[in-house]
Amino acid sequence: AKISITGTAGETRIIEPQSGLTVMEIIRDAGFDEMIALCGGNCSCATCHVYVDGEVDVGPPGDDEDDLLSSSDKRRDRSRLSCQIIFDETMVGLSVTIANEES
Ligand code: FES
Repeated sequence: AKISITGTAGETRIIEPQSGLTVMEIIRDAGFDEMIALCGGNCSCATCHVYVDGEVDVGPPGDDEDDLLSSSDKRRDRSRLSCQIIFDETMVGLSVTIANEES
């Protein structure tokens, strides 16, 4: 399965990642420097904020994640912390946009 990633500058890259990586790792590995992911995927920093905009339902955020997302004024309906989404082959058509926390 492929994933479409759009950066904060509007550029989009299509990647075919291996299953089992988090979406945060996939975005970072794809070379998007704006994916800060300060806490390294421990669900404690919220700097891996993305909007899920494909047709794939990745489910709702967990409780801790939901609390962190609430601290962002950039939160939208389909906001998720990308380190909390584990990519798998069933996520065909997944598309994410990196939230711009700086703007
Ligand atoms: Fe820190 Fe996702 S990398 S919450």
